[in-house]
Amino acid sequence: MTRNNDRADWWRQAVVYQVYPRSFHDANGDGLGDLRGVTAKMGYIAALGVDAIWLSPFYPSPLADGGYDVADYRDVDPRLGSLEDFDEMVAAAHGAGVKVVVDIVPNHTSSEHPWFRAALGAGPGSPERERYIFRPGRGEHGELPPNGWRSCFGGPAWQPVGDGEWYLHLFAAEQPDLNWSNPEVHEDFRRTLRFWSDRGVDGFRVDVAHALAKDLDSRPLDAWPDDPGQDRPGEDNPLWDRPEVHDIYREWRQVFNEYEPARFAVGEAWIVPEHQWRYASMEELGQVFNFELAKANWMADEMRPAIEEGLAAAERSGSTTTWVLSNHDVPRHATRYGLPQVKSAEHHQLANDWLLRDGRSYREDRALGTRRARAALLMELGLPGSVYLYQGEELGLFEVADLPWDALEDPQARTTAHGDALKGRDGCRVPLPWEAAREDFGFSAPAEHAPAHLPQPAWFAGHAVDAEERDQGSMLWFYRRALAQRARLLTATGDTSLAWVSGYDDQVIAYERPTDDGRALVSVTNFGAHAVPLPEGEVLLASVPLEGGLLPGDACAWVVR
Ligand code: NOJ
Repeated sequence: MTRNNDRADWWRQAVVYQVYPRSFHDANGDGLGDLRGVTAKMGYIAALGVDAIWLSPFYPSPLADGGYDVADYRDVDPRLGSLEDFDEMVAAAHGAGVKVVVDIVPNHTSSEHPWFRAALGAGPGSPERERYIFRPGRGEHGELPPNGWRSCFGGPAWQPVGDGEWYLHLFAAEQPDLNWSNPEVHEDFRRTLRFWSDRGVDGFRVDVAHALAKDLDSRPLDAWPDDPGQDRPGEDNPLWDRPEVHDIYREWRQVFNEYEPARFAVGEAWIVPEHQWRYASMEELGQVFNFELAKANWMADEMRPAIEEGLAAAERSGSTTTWVLSNHDVPRHATRYGLPQVKSAEHHQLANDWLLRDGRSYREDRALGTRRARAALLMELGLPGSVYLYQGEELGLFEVADLPWDALEDPQARTTAHGDALKGRDGCRVPLPWEAAREDFGFSAPAEHAPAHLPQPAWFAGHAVDAEERDQGSMLWFYRRALAQRARLLTATGDTSLAWVSGYDDQVIAYERPTDDGRALVSVTNFGAHAVPLPEGEVLLASVPLEGGLLPGDACAWVVR
């Protein structure tokens, strides 16, 4: 039987498991996860039944932003291993039938990148400064920033360097933005794409894909609004989603197509969905993250448009869409679904507020969050397109809301004042629990080891891999069973059609897909308070036991007919 990964366009309907390397598994005992840790757990990853792993950055980095501040794009951070360790990891993955996707961070480098150090040393007007975005400050001695733009992590987006010039950083000050008007920058990234492709990498995840092209010259800098808005697309936005950004990805496509099979990429672009299709087209990256599910509450009237939007995006791009419930940037969905569900805009406010107050401002109903997370997985896995899972969601982990402020690593927490701002994203980045009985839950392999880089809560014991292995009713086994059925029924032919199933009220989302063996799979998700009937057929999976043959609320079932 054809498997998804036998296809050259395997990525169109892949299940990709995101590894956040520093927090996955620590093979050398320094308290930071590493590449040998990933290799050691490749059996676990393969047994989960995913098609690929995507690794967040593992490159040399001062870790000002969890590795999204890259000091060398073509090496491995010595704390995380070596290039040989990387090659071994790729060999282990490929040996286990798992593809490898790496993260490319082209909008900014680390301030420790040799280019940036050279730029600081070389001074105004030098070719070294032309690789970044330096501008003279305002005021008599350049003591004021060129304009009022704000960094995504809070605070000004400009940093002075002491000689009257300031550099632009849309993220942390340790992440200076590159100047994509400079051909040298293009050349260097083409080299990086080839470097990793030559080492056997199957694809790339492109960080902040919509920010690379910028317009700083068509009008005086201080004529732009302080917040041009990430989701306000078009010519008139100097920073985000500019039309010229697409030239870059057309250029990258040439590089991807030098390989057999062609490499693919998935772009991260938090922009209006109607604008994402061009990034995802086959002339450019091939895919783009669709974050609509991650943004939606556990409510039928938010989930349905989120799904419709994803399907429409696939239609527009001529490619497939992606489905995401969690990643390393958002609070874990088992927690989100256990908080009060209010309309989207307020929901994010609410979740952030809850984090900020160490989880004390609202009651987190973990049983309900877990129940809904199981249903959400089934609803998501049946959809056409790729599914991106985030490490730990298969263990049903919740957000760790009560990390002490002084343990936090996220620049969001560093740049904003305690008590009235964001606590940041560390709560979903706590090192994974592997063994319930070990003191660091088996995160570090050696008996003697440094403490895990973020403290793990005691309740992790109940979610450790070995504990869930022993319990057939665990989230882990639920993921394995659901992924196995998806692989068996939905991905071999490449068919991405979907039909809505009618006859239910607006509290139910029901759709139907053709299966690879010529039948139909019906997915029914019930958001309502009352149990609903399922169509005639074989009930293949249900997120909770049926009640007298009916599907209760906050649950999903797959029926094959
Ligand atoms: C998006 C990444 O996912 C996030 O973790 C990072 O902080 C920003 N891009 C900046 O690189």
